[in-house]
Amino acid sequence: MKKQITILMPALLLFLSFFMVSYTTDTIKNNYEAISSTNSEGIEIPNDVQEVLKEKCYGCHNTESKGEKSKKKFNIDYLTDGNYSKGKLVSKLGKVVEELEENNMPPEKFLAKYPNKELTIEESKLLMEWAKSQREALMGE
Ligand code: HEC
Repeated sequence: MKKQITILMPALLLFLSFFMVSYTTDTIKNNYEAISSTNSEGIEIPNDVQEVLKEKCYGCHNTESKGEKSKKKFNIDYLTDGNYSKGKLVSKLGKVVEELEENNMPPEKFLAKYPNKELTIEESKLLMEWAKSQREALMGE
């Protein structure tokens, strides 16, 4: 019996570690793909924009966010999953430009605690130009 256990234990550990590894790679993959790049209305979120949204905005503005107000006002998941109608997309993209022009996002209170989440001038410009161009494309159709 004892001999059986000494053989079984390493096998069991190997088996478990295999599952741990595949579990963690799955989670990382899912996080990376959290922001989709296109939707049926034709919105496009290029990789560089996705990166900035993911790093600086997504935490408060996704379906799973704790902040009810922030996700109700702007949900990044809804940009691509079909939850925002075309009209909503146009208005939300307009809000993004407004908030960034006024330097309102991320909120000041939050930045006081997490100063590394502040947008650089380049990042802010990138997001504004993206939101403007997507908005115009939607309206132009
Ligand atoms: C720490 C959480 C947090 C982060 C990070 C954050 N926001 Fe917000 N955001 C909020 C909250 C809270 C509101 C609601 C503000 C209010 O109406 O009082 C909001 C509102 C908004 C709105 C909607 C404004 C409106 O009137 O409809 C937009 C658009 C927005 N944020 C864009 C962004 C962008 C873009 C980023 C990243 C650069 C970002 N937010 C990062 C918390 C956050």
